[in-house]
Amino acid sequence: MPPSLENNQLLNTILDRRSIRHFSDREIPDDVFNAILEAGRVAPSTVNLQTWALATFTDQTWKELFDQSIPFNGNRAVIVPGDTHRGKKVMGFFSHRPLVEYTLAVINASLAAMNRLLRQRH
Ligand SMILES: Cc1cc2nc3c(=O)[nH]c(=O)nc-3n(C[C@H](O)[C@H](O)[C@H](O)COP(=O)(O)O)c2cc1C
Repeated sequence: MPPSLENNQLLNTILDRRSIRHFSDREIPDDVFNAILEAGRVAPSTVNLQTWALATFTDQTWKELFDQSIPFNGNRAVIVPGDTHRGKKVMGFFSHRPLVEYTLAVINASLAAMNRLLRQRH
């Protein structure tokens, strides 16, 4: 790490990120959860089409749909499906490129999801 970046908060947050496989029992307040959702909404996307949808869950609503608890002891969950319809607006540019609306949707939704995954270690 170059000395000039040692105290770079953003870089350190990215380098320290790890997949969590057991979440604590601490509740996520609504305003905090909404701030996390907003972090995804401002992610970059193709022509700013924001080709994603959002499905948010509590443990209760997750159980109603999937008949099991949120994995890894989570108490909130977000599914970010790619929205292939919005991408059709720019299909004129890519008319001979099959699957491009799917690719755009998945890339954009993934970037939005990634923005929500970053957090500082305690
Ligand atoms: C698209 C995708 C799907 C993943 N699916 C799972 C999964 O089903 N179960 C799991 O424990 N981890 C899953 N992971 C996490 C990876 O296993 C993890 O990112 C990888 O082992 C590197 O570890 P790290 O994220 O802690 O650096 C997934 C990651 C991505 C990007």
